Amino acid sequence: MKPMEKILRLLMLVACAGLAAGAANVLAKGDPDADPPLAPLPEVPQPPDNRITDAKVELGKLLFFDPKLTGDASLSCGDCHDPKQGWGFADPISRGYPGAVHWRNSQTVVNSGFLGKLFWQGSSNSLERQAPTANKGAVAGNGENDVMEARLRQTPEYIKRFKEVFGTSQPNLGHAWMAIATFERAALTQKNSPLDRYLKGDKSALSEQAVQGMKLFTGKANCIECHNGAMLTDEKYYNVGLPRPPEFEESGMNQITFRWENYAKGVHEKKYREWKDDAGLYYSTKRPQDAGKFRTPPLRYVAHTAPYMHAGQFFTLEEVIDFYDEGGGDNEFTERYGNKTPVLKPLDLSDEEKEALVAFLEELSGEEIVMPIPKVPEYGVMPDVPGLTQAQAKRIGMETYLMSTGQQ
Ligand code: HEC
Ligand code: HEC
Repeated sequence: MKPMEKILRLLMLVACAGLAAGAANVLAKGDPDADPPLAPLPEVPQPPDNRITDAKVELGKLLFFDPKLTGDASLSCGDCHDPKQGWGFADPISRGYPGAVHWRNSQTVVNSGFLGKLFWQGSSNSLERQAPTANKGAVAGNGENDVMEARLRQTPEYIKRFKEVFGTSQPNLGHAWMAIATFERAALTQKNSPLDRYLKGDKSALSEQAVQGMKLFTGKANCIECHNGAMLTDEKYYNVGLPRPPEFEESGMNQITFRWENYAKGVHEKKYREWKDDAGLYYSTKRPQDAGKFRTPPLRYVAHTAPYMHAGQFFTLEEVIDFYDEGGGDNEFTERYGNKTPVLKPLDLSDEEKEALVAFLEELSGEEIVMPIPKVPEYGVMPDVPGLTQAQAKRIGMETYLMSTGQQ
């Protein structure tokens, strides 16, 4: 080997080791680490290739509530992320595509523009990439790309608006996801919540009881170990030992979805036959020690988003606090792999302390984002083309014809 080549190989080895170490950090085992303090929300980050504009936000809002973006045109994002249900869905396990049920709790989309890892499993890393998985996922939107796109192209109002926002002669789906992401980022971000005001110096923004709760949150109760920073999440993964949701045992439909998800996610046959709990991060990494780990959820809007946890295991914040007070729980994977996070320990909280923690969570959540559901644009027939019947126009490809005559 030439000396130069040797150096190059050495450099490659060092780089690989660095990458491996990086991966180990992502799959944190829950060891105590430096915790960023609670902080006010900054301005929402905007991707350089998808800047926020008013017209894009308005278009995204229509698309978010428009059922044209599903398989059978019956279900919109807003049906599972209902403004009146905390921009989520208030059943423990979300509704699904008609005839199916989901297998996880529907999360709020409020403040999701700040998250680097989306979904309970943290498996999507931007709102632009998340939207199509929602509209196409079999138990959610179950849509086909070309059908959904054709529906937008048959809606004159969308032809007009996509042209204004993106400069295209016809709507396309990639732009639809960008508009939906922009709506979420711009319109569904909380501004100046009580926690922000308190942290910026307005000491009257939280009650005395809530301030006591915050002290417990960042001290004795040690919630800050995982729920930290501006979004109250470290976006790492833990198995906190949640029990199996009763729906997985009692409802045939939920069992079918659970089995199907395991099959579709490539779970090995032996595990497929044995496992009865949602394996969370395991589906992304296929490492048994990651089974039952979920991304720490943000808590900024939490008073409005009951029930709680990945399968809505708890209905109230009091139940959540009781669960942590006992040091978390056990489930199939903590028993099989001993992977319950070592961070959780019994807390020995008094009733008064538990109430203070609940008061903190409720008050920090602030006002609900209220929004009337907009009327979505209707389909329209293609405009008449002088000198051609509709059938003739269709045969020669009306889109091409209209464009060539400058009519679109
Ligand atoms: C059939 C119900 C359903 C529909 C329709 C649906 N969602 Fe969801 N959404 C869910 C569920 C359930 C989850 C959690 C799924 C998981 O983690 O596996 C979720 C998660 C999300 C998240 C992640 C939030 C977080 O904290 O990580 C975002 C963002 C989101 N949905 C946006 C959308 C958008 C945008 C649409 C329309 C394009 C949409 N959803 C359509 C049920 C739905
Ligand atoms: C070891 C890290 C860790 C610690 C410590 C921790 N949490 Fe959590 N928290 C999580 C994870 C992970 C979840 C999601 C679990 C799941 O669904 O599987 C969660 C879920 C929650 C939820 C439900 C949120 C929702 O949208 O459904 C609330 C509320 C909550 N935690 C509050 C607290 C409070 C209060 C404390 C302190 C008493 C605390 N947590 C301590 C990691 C932690």
